[in-house]
Amino acid sequence: MDIKAEIISVIKQSLGEFTKERIEFLVEEPENESFGDYSSNIALALFSKSKIKNQKSKTQFKIQKLRSPPELAQEIIDKFIIHDSQFMIHFDRVEAVKPGFINFYLSQDYLFSQLTRILEEKEKFGSKSENPNKKVVVEYSSPNIAKPFTVGHLRSTIIGDAIANLLQANGWKVYRDNHLGDWGTQFGKQIYAIKTWGDENEINKVENPVRELVALYVKFHEEAERNPKLEEKAREWFKKLEDGDVEARRLWKKCVEWSLVEFKKIYEKLRVEFTENNGLGYGEAFFEDRMTGVIRELKEKKLLKKGERGAELVFFEKDKYPPLMILKQDGATLYATRDLATDKFRLDKYGKDIVIINEVGVEQALYFRQLFKVEKMLGWVKEGQRIHKRHGLYRFKDQKMSTRKGNTIWLEEVLQEAVKRAEKLGSENKEIAEEVGIGAIKWNDLKRTSEQDIVFDWDEILNMQGDSGPYLQYAFARTQSVLLKATSDKKKEASSKNKIKNEIGLARIMLARPLLARLETEEISLLRALNRFPEAVSQAGEKFAPNILCNYLFGLAQKFNLFYQKHKIIGSENQDFRLKLTAGVGQIIRTGLNLLGIAAPEKI
Ligand code: ARG
Repeated sequence: MDIKAEIISVIKQSLGEFTKERIEFLVEEPENESFGDYSSNIALALFSKSKIKNQKSKTQFKIQKLRSPPELAQEIIDKFIIHDSQFMIHFDRVEAVKPGFINFYLSQDYLFSQLTRILEEKEKFGSKSENPNKKVVVEYSSPNIAKPFTVGHLRSTIIGDAIANLLQANGWKVYRDNHLGDWGTQFGKQIYAIKTWGDENEINKVENPVRELVALYVKFHEEAERNPKLEEKAREWFKKLEDGDVEARRLWKKCVEWSLVEFKKIYEKLRVEFTENNGLGYGEAFFEDRMTGVIRELKEKKLLKKGERGAELVFFEKDKYPPLMILKQDGATLYATRDLATDKFRLDKYGKDIVIINEVGVEQALYFRQLFKVEKMLGWVKEGQRIHKRHGLYRFKDQKMSTRKGNTIWLEEVLQEAVKRAEKLGSENKEIAEEVGIGAIKWNDLKRTSEQDIVFDWDEILNMQGDSGPYLQYAFARTQSVLLKATSDKKKEASSKNKIKNEIGLARIMLARPLLARLETEEISLLRALNRFPEAVSQAGEKFAPNILCNYLFGLAQKFNLFYQKHKIIGSENQDFRLKLTAGVGQIIRTGLNLLGIAAPEKI
């Protein structure tokens, strides 16, 4: 049991002395260190509940004689000691303070034992083992075939991947899915455009085939404005595609291949993967044949109504939302029809309790409300089982970036630019520059609540002084260079004295206990911060909020930099402990960055 769970359990035990009632209370990690490592409002909660209840009956609570919550807090603390004296040894002190909180200050011994655990468990520290009852589909990225991979898709990819990692660390079995937009009437237009103005050989040859496809698609719309007959042609081609016409299928498949080449490059750069359908994800087209079952079920459950113009729709109670179209008047299916088939498939495949998270832009918020409501009306899902994790828009501060290519911002260019700028920061080589550049983009996205819009600002993204990816990576690299130097010093010393035959190595030496009484403020502060890592991981997972972890890591890196500035590590009296502390900080930053999908190069 971790220490927080232990606090909660001991509080509950002591409560038995006061009441049989259930009391809701919190145990939190206060922002301000002077309030302890943990703090609970139990006394306040108990006091206010007993006040109400005691008006009715005098016997329910045995605390009438206490005058104030702080007094009650002290009384509760006294019970801890009676119930579990072992528990108290983890703390330096446990205090009752106004207006009635109980603050817990961990002992240095305990904090030190956590540091030892970090060094032993390495990247496993802070992670829970898999719980077979917790299963989740995290769907992210989901770009559209023959369309640009937009910054919206980039956000989805970065945030979705981080959430998937965090849930995994919290004991969830995670299915990572990519709902590619590879089906829909737009393919009728695309196929017509390729056949009319395109040159397949040419598209095969170019570096970015998607650009050619987008250009053709744009041309279609320009031409169609002058000649409305083209829309008809496009519909015919889509019909052919649906009916399995060989030529239509062939061209559609080519579009998918051309696009995947480009998407794969992006995923490789971002180091993001999917687990479903051999790593491809189940795109919309996969559900083509699975929609009839859903439509049948909707009909059987009397959820489909004909609209005025002949389309089939689902209407909502009291018109809470606009109706959701399931079939067009010509019988064609829609995005929503495929989403329903997708979720039906997931519930069948992974189990009816599977939690499904779609990481999609905020602009689809209404759509997902409609979708989830329909799934509830169908009786498929319970409250909380469907989650739309939404992200805000990107706005570009640097105008040039957004206008150069009309309204399209080509993602590869943003990523390339990031790497170029990282190189200018002085990264050692191409690979590291890439890790820094991509890490900077990711951190910039993950550090804030995802729902917020982002004003894209290179200076902020690469700010070495502040809340940025490079700042974290530098702090990590600093821990590694200190450790490396210590190791090589040790080796030099050993070989010069020529008395160590086999490598004792740093590890042995580092097992030495620190001179605890002499710890500096910055050291204690770092130890306390390290102890909070599992909690940050757990909260970030629970709330689907990578920014909680970013916030934690940034605080840790700042504390480390302060420690590093103020104190000598190598050659100090407390060198062994300080090296151990440095190794612990390094380990946690690395684990944390990895959970966010950000690389932690040892040298920058
Ligand atoms: N392809 C869609 C788009 O680019 C996003 C798909 C989101 N996922 C879903 N299950 N509808 O807008």
